[in-house]
Amino acid sequence: MNKTIIVSNRLPLQISLHNNNLVLTPSVGGLATGMKSVHEGGKSLWIGWSGLKEEDLDPKLTEKVNAAIAKENCAAVSLTGKDLNNFYYGFSNNTLWPMFHYFMEYTTFEGKHWESYKEVNRKFAETVLEHTNDGDTIWVHDYQLLLLPELIKRERPNVSVGFFLHIPFPSYEVFRALPWREELLNGMLGADLLGFHTYDYERHFLSSVRRILRLDTHFNEISYQGRTLRVDSFPMGIDYNKFRNAAIAHHEQGPEYKSDLKKRLDAHLQSAPDAKMILSIDRLDYTKGIPNRLKAFEYFLDKYPQFREKVRFILLAVPSRSNVPQYQLLKKETDELVGRINGKFSTVNWTPIWYFYRSMPFENLIDLYTSCGVALITPIRDGMNLVAKEYIATRVDKDGVLVLSEMAGAAKEMNEALLINPNNFEQIADTLKRALEMTEEEQAERNAFMQRRLERYSVEKWAKEFMKALHATKQQHHVIVSK
Ligand code: ADP
Ligand code: G6P
Repeated sequence: MNKTIIVSNRLPLQISLHNNNLVLTPSVGGLATGMKSVHEGGKSLWIGWSGLKEEDLDPKLTEKVNAAIAKENCAAVSLTGKDLNNFYYGFSNNTLWPMFHYFMEYTTFEGKHWESYKEVNRKFAETVLEHTNDGDTIWVHDYQLLLLPELIKRERPNVSVGFFLHIPFPSYEVFRALPWREELLNGMLGADLLGFHTYDYERHFLSSVRRILRLDTHFNEISYQGRTLRVDSFPMGIDYNKFRNAAIAHHEQGPEYKSDLKKRLDAHLQSAPDAKMILSIDRLDYTKGIPNRLKAFEYFLDKYPQFREKVRFILLAVPSRSNVPQYQLLKKETDELVGRINGKFSTVNWTPIWYFYRSMPFENLIDLYTSCGVALITPIRDGMNLVAKEYIATRVDKDGVLVLSEMAGAAKEMNEALLINPNNFEQIADTLKRALEMTEEEQAERNAFMQRRLERYSVEKWAKEFMKALHATKQQHHVIVSK
């Protein structure tokens, strides 16, 4: 039977070792949460890195790891510590990630990182090819695997290959600075269908293809090596019912079932008649605009002192890529800013910011989403931002205000949110005030629109549309070949 193979650098679960025992934890990030719902709903095989280094595994442990991930319909690509340093921390997260998010000052160009990137993409290709039969469909994900579509297509021209980029594709003016720009574009063009979150990213990609590879494009089609490939935008959705149902269950929960976190959140809300909470959740990443957000919150408390002792800001930052120096610096800056702002405004009864630096179980995320009347999401650049969508999905009573950066892909579909420029503190402070004072009618009106859209274009629908377009592209090849 034909199957779908999902390929991404990270599997939906991460394995670590504690006293020689395997510990499985869910992966964090939009790709993992989104694709997990698709994977669980279908009959796919997911190929990726297990989270462990090759050097840390002996044959017995390898067998155990493979058995544990096989239970989740996954298969592992084995990576060494050197691969991780050069391919993952190096090329993926010191070259492509900052460059594609327009952080040129953080972007490095190192030949040895590039060599490793090619090598690891080949390792992925080997594992994928081992599992592939004619008629299978392969869906490759994200910036760590830009060369993989071509490596697969070269060996198996009859297999359908789709590619989806979960981060922005930058403008030609930025992308052209890459020393290996042609190779990366050629790698991506091995796919039959290339998907992006927004029309702008799609447009930037097509412009690079035209100007760097000098290929003709016709609307969203590219003729390349006797094939016609398609490029399109597919804004990723969320598992709407999962978030909504979890929120409904939380509302119906008796006090004895409430988590400690929920009890503390409730206590703040009951501390004053107009007490409110502002929430932000992200991986601790410089693209997310966390320092800007904190400085804007400080400015807000200075400008509008009437909100002191009433408003609490809950900042949940999930540890991410902590071996990369920029992330270590960001951690330090965030710790210092939180300390300074709390030191400046705290009273005996009130601490303005509650800061959590950790991953939280799903139930606690729902506690936070359902308790906070405002979500403040201010990335400097973000491919999509699923947290914004999850927040709206959990607002069962249609209350709650989303303050969202224009620079997030999600802003394109969430016009009813209060959109802000993440570099404009004045605007953020004023918008926060507006959010905290918005009438319930206005909140409900805005959220009803967004909820309808999120329900209709769920992650399941997103995956179906992508697959439908991929199969249509394949059929088009047949027509061209048989003409
Ligand atoms: P990114 O992909 O850049 O990390 P997104 O906002 O698109 O950003 O996706 C983040 C995903 O990670 C969301 O689905 C969110 O629910 C999940 N997540 C965020 N914080 C946590 C956390 N502390 N624990 C578990 N999952 C989290
Ligand atoms: C973003 C990227 C994913 C990545 C995730 C977590 O969502 O688009 O590809 O997996 O961040 O980052 P990490 O480096 O820990 O895999």
